[in-house]
Amino acid sequence: SGAPRPRLAFLGTGYLGTTYAICFAEMGYEVLGFDVDIDKIARLTDGEVPFHEPGLEELLKRNLAAGRLKFCTNLAQTAEFGDVHFICVGTPQRVDGMGADLSYIEAVVSGLARHLTRKALIVGKSTVPVGTAEWVEQLVGKHAPAELGVEVAWSPEFLQEGFAVEDVLRPNRIVAGVNSEWASSMLYAAHKGVLDLAATEDRDLPVVVTDFATAELVKVAANAFLATKVSFINAMAEVCEVAGGDVTQLARAIGYDPRIGNRFLQAGVGFGGGCLPKDIRAFQARAQELGAGEALRFLHEVDLINQRRRTRVLQLAADLLACRCGPAGPDLSGTRIAVLGATFKPNSDDVRDAPSLAVAALLAKAGAYVHVYDPQGMHNARRAQPDLTYAPTMTDAVRDADLVCVLTEWADFRNADPHALGTLVTHRRIIDGRNCLDPALWIQAGWEYRGMGRP
Ligand code: UGA
Repeated sequence: SGAPRPRLAFLGTGYLGTTYAICFAEMGYEVLGFDVDIDKIARLTDGEVPFHEPGLEELLKRNLAAGRLKFCTNLAQTAEFGDVHFICVGTPQRVDGMGADLSYIEAVVSGLARHLTRKALIVGKSTVPVGTAEWVEQLVGKHAPAELGVEVAWSPEFLQEGFAVEDVLRPNRIVAGVNSEWASSMLYAAHKGVLDLAATEDRDLPVVVTDFATAELVKVAANAFLATKVSFINAMAEVCEVAGGDVTQLARAIGYDPRIGNRFLQAGVGFGGGCLPKDIRAFQARAQELGAGEALRFLHEVDLINQRRRTRVLQLAADLLACRCGPAGPDLSGTRIAVLGATFKPNSDDVRDAPSLAVAALLAKAGAYVHVYDPQGMHNARRAQPDLTYAPTMTDAVRDADLVCVLTEWADFRNADPHALGTLVTHRRIIDGRNCLDPALWIQAGWEYRGMGRP
């Protein structure tokens, strides 16, 4: 329709804010991305996405050229620009415990509020402990000129790294935590592009309009459920390991029941990344504060199952290499191990809480000489784990290895030729930490194969 579209500001150009800013510009909105990081803003302005996300850089360049998308480090300019301000800054795990650090939210919201000169909507997108939206509303009340009537809404996001563009343009639902008609209509206008696209493609796009607390909880509940699903199948893997079952077939069989569903049932070295692990901890900490700690006690178990997957690889390695087990655990000294994969999942360069890197560190600590290779994550891995040895190619990592561990399911590894790799190693031994290889193929090529939760 002819109604003017609101101008959208995205505050915090991390993973979330950058992807949203670019994708909303692609839908035709006038967009401004703000960050305090001068270097990041300079790179974005030059058309460079500071992380690996398929398809995103092309969209960035196109929308910069079209003049719909700009970036800046100036809060006053951002306040002046936006009708709707999306708060996309990080909420990392607090150094003193399991809760979330809200200092970035506090800084950006109070700074923005002080600079506002007209009515605007501030929309929280960051993952936060329940109760934060109300606190943000108080912050805005304290710092924004009262006569402007600035309002707050909460609209969590569910994008997955590696699929971020698609997830933002074609989300499977929109959640709108609002407490006024005006906020609701502004939020609707800000999402009209997404809703129109769904209508054009004849897709259902449900909008759940709710209160602040529910909107905040939807996000952490969704991530807690996903983490639980992964740990559930990994728990089944543990049982399969002692009972002699095959968890991949088990997952396939239970997944045919639509009430269970076949996705997120991939057993392996467990979940990592910047969201699932920290979110389940922050959720427990918040529930505890609110007096409902018992309700989320199972998430502690979800975390423990997830951690055990990492030590499982260490045990398997010791087993395959026939290493002795000392009082401090297996002794892998004198062995050479190739670790394929450093990112927490494929199609990403993100190594935050990556099971692959954690396992590499465990193997190294047990005395093995570990060579790590990853198609996209080398730069970040080197910074996160500078003590490990990195190989420039898969071939270099695997050469002279006594054992190969595939810990992230990159296509390069899934499609690797077992015969070709076999000529490089000292012994054909492989741990498939993601159950992403065809065991028959590797066994035929003379490899000793160990999967996760498979005989
Ligand atoms: C996750 C959620 O999936 C998104 O919906 C959410 O928006 C996002 O967190 C967030 O809070 O921002 P992401 O961290 O990109 O997205 O990663 P996932 O694809 O969920 O994978 C998480 C981890 O679980 C990875 O390490 C992956 O290897 C592991 N995983 C996933 C498994 O081990 N098995 C599976 O079956 C699925």
